[in-house]
Amino acid sequence: MDFKEKYQNLVEAVNLELDKLTAEVDCPQRAIYQAMRYSLMAGGKRLRPVLAMAVSEMLGGNYEEVLPFGCAIEMIHTYSLIHDDLPSMDNDDYRRGRLTCHKVFGEAKAILAGDALLNLAFEVMSDEMLKSQGNIASKAKAMSIIAKASGVSGMIGGQVIDLESEGRIIPAALLGKMHACKTGALIKAPVLASAVLNNASCSELEALESYAENIGLAFQVKDDILDVEGDSSLMGKPAGSDEANQKSTYVSIYGLDESKRMLAELIDKAVKSLCIFGQNAQFLKALAEYIMIREN
Ligand code: IPE
Ligand code: IPE
Ligand code: MG
Ligand code: MG
Ligand code: MG
Repeated sequence: MDFKEKYQNLVEAVNLELDKLTAEVDCPQRAIYQAMRYSLMAGGKRLRPVLAMAVSEMLGGNYEEVLPFGCAIEMIHTYSLIHDDLPSMDNDDYRRGRLTCHKVFGEAKAILAGDALLNLAFEVMSDEMLKSQGNIASKAKAMSIIAKASGVSGMIGGQVIDLESEGRIIPAALLGKMHACKTGALIKAPVLASAVLNNASCSELEALESYAENIGLAFQVKDDILDVEGDSSLMGKPAGSDEANQKSTYVSIYGLDESKRMLAELIDKAVKSLCIFGQNAQFLKALAEYIMIREN
């Protein structure tokens, strides 16, 4: 099976599970399901759950145990996008090829849809622990990894640095920290959570941590590049948003050519980190290359 086909198969499994987890319930507040599903089921690359599943497969595990955790991260990621697009943040009108959640449902419901996705993510993970037959400690550890990656020391922290960096030129070290937090953390989380759920050894964890940190940072560097030279119709979100908001990005600080060079270096490091897994790492290596060449 080639890379694309395998990726697509994993995406389909994720979409089926997300659909089940957010099935509309007949209740007076059912409008919230519409707003949540509007953003969650709008497509998206599903990179984070795909990573969780691919790590599991590489370590000889099966998908079933990691899929709910991968879906929980996808819910948290989608909530972060809904809030990121709000007028008080990046003020963007398009996401995943459609109008942003607040444009369709209004700001109040978009805020609540984001909150609801965050809550549901933790409901899904804690339910997994409750039905667990003996793997409770590793499920608790996976949930803790995901909680930290989403919070003040992860995505939310990075978003705060991002907002405070608007209109300023920030030091290179802070730029790296911002990207590692706002985007890297939620890319590292599915890799490490899946490794823990599959009882990875210390050396496996170390290798996967290096892989995840490098692709996590690379992913946002590429996002910054696409914001300058990407095609909005392929990305499903507007290009030029960073410039309009006077954001500090890899491109604004280092320029396009140097950003591309750094991106290639990060991907190279990520791929090399996986050498201990030999042939079994083929898909994850191809995934790293895909992050560099993606057009959306
Ligand atoms: C966009 O994430 C926001 C960033 C963290 C850069 P993705 O590019 O993964 O967005 P979707 O999930 O495919 O829509
Ligand atoms: C967002 O970074 C990272 C999040 C935590 C959502 P960006 O603001 O650059 O993401 P896009 O370009 O809007 O997807
Ligand atoms: Mg933003
Ligand atoms: Mg944005
Ligand atoms: Mg961006």
